[in-house]
Amino acid sequence: MDGELEAAVSRVLDSGWFLLGPELEQFEREFATHCGTRHCVGVGSGLSAIELALRAAGVGPGDQVLVPAYTWVATWLGVSRAGAQPVGVDVEPATYSIDPERIAESITPSTAAILPVHLRGEPADMDAISAIAAQHDLLVIEDAAQAHGARFRGRRVGGLGDAAAFSFYPTKNLGAPGDGGAVTTDDDELADRVRLLRNYGMRDRHRVEEAGVNSRLAEIQAAALRVLLPRLEDWNRARTDLAGRYLGALGGCAEIMLPTVGSQSEPAWHLFVIGHPDRDACADALAEAGIETLIHYPVLPHRSGPYRELWPPGSFPVAERLAAAALSLPLRPHLEPADCDRVSEAVLASVEPRLSA
Ligand SMILES: Cc1ncc(COP(=O)(O)O)c(C=O)c1O
Repeated sequence: MDGELEAAVSRVLDSGWFLLGPELEQFEREFATHCGTRHCVGVGSGLSAIELALRAAGVGPGDQVLVPAYTWVATWLGVSRAGAQPVGVDVEPATYSIDPERIAESITPSTAAILPVHLRGEPADMDAISAIAAQHDLLVIEDAAQAHGARFRGRRVGGLGDAAAFSFYPTKNLGAPGDGGAVTTDDDELADRVRLLRNYGMRDRHRVEEAGVNSRLAEIQAAALRVLLPRLEDWNRARTDLAGRYLGALGGCAEIMLPTVGSQSEPAWHLFVIGHPDRDACADALAEAGIETLIHYPVLPHRSGPYRELWPPGSFPVAERLAAAALSLPLRPHLEPADCDRVSEAVLASVEPRLSA
């Protein structure tokens, strides 16, 4: 990056202005333009972005928010942080995304919003979700933490609902050198409320209007993100090429479940997750070959501490079945195609012994 990141950080250090300054303002304009929304409001993390988007939209205590059973627990925690109740909905087997057919049966008089997650960078079925939301007068808040730059029907995620939450955690497609997040929206009032809430609920010095939080995207992070954002599209293209390579190499193997891409979507390929009949053995075999894999997620949100009393094992059969088989293969923009091929060969070899057994 030829010292651009260092120069951006130095610019902030030299300025002595570390919070709510010109870098943040510029980044907010640039990221809003990227998403095709009127507003972007930088906040301290993706978790805060979910909480503040919901609170700013008027969702809080007494409200229920429909969330997919298959996601990182932060989706559910963001709802809890807003004071509302996350209500899990099982997912579609092919896409791991919230199943629109199951949304309707989960709606109660307390339901205020649907919070679809563009998991692994693949946009959720926003046509079906928006139609149900319109029918029942519900808000739609996107969790776009894993999907910077992904498109649905040619439109970028972040502008497909009433508001969206992004994370700039370092490993995300657009990752800062530290924590960060943002809310995007076309709604002037909602954006104004997120600005208020991220800074103690303070309208101006000494005038606190409501109980806000301290969750601001720091100037250093914003300056770094301004350097990285123009590269996002190229990096996503590189991810897409590698995903295509995996799909080509593994496509002939009936034992392995491959990610599917909706006909309307251009995914950001944050992760490349396969379903493997003997996931742990495959992960061990790959580790022995020096290939690092990850499991997203060994414990689903409903089995995490805050929620496990309410949702026993078996509450979400599809999500639980998918989670038991899921293995994330290496995928990053600078992965060499030859390394990608080596991973595919190792995965295929891990299936073959089962076939001959
Ligand atoms: C789907 C999803 N939602 C929310 C978050 C929370 O983002 P953060 O780690 O910035 O709080 C993450 C990332 O960790 C995520 O993957």
